[in-house]
Amino acid sequence: MPNLIVVTRDGTERVVAGEAGLSVMEVIRDNGFDELLALCGGSCSCATCHVHVDPEFAAKLPKMGPDEDDLLDSSSDRDETSRLSCQIQFTSALDGLRVRIAAED
Ligand code: FES
Repeated sequence: MPNLIVVTRDGTERVVAGEAGLSVMEVIRDNGFDELLALCGGSCSCATCHVHVDPEFAAKLPKMGPDEDDLLDSSSDRDETSRLSCQIQFTSALDGLRVRIAAED
């Protein structure tokens, strides 16, 4: 299984194995990171699954849709590395992806 590196808000880094086909949000949630609320369950309507993605992987990520873009605008922690983790499907091409859980809004 590909690995995902998750950095929590206090800077703790942990490597977890993620099942390909799940979303990055699901991989984070299934590994017990309760900082990532993911309140809407992945339907792109809450923005509580906001993460900052390692820029090295930017070209491998699926394109951001307009709904994700609009939702991210509601976050004060948005920057050019921001993504909603429920909108990124985790695949073997993303092995080693590093994401940092965004600040709480
Ligand atoms: S889980 Fe709600 S937008 Fe991602």
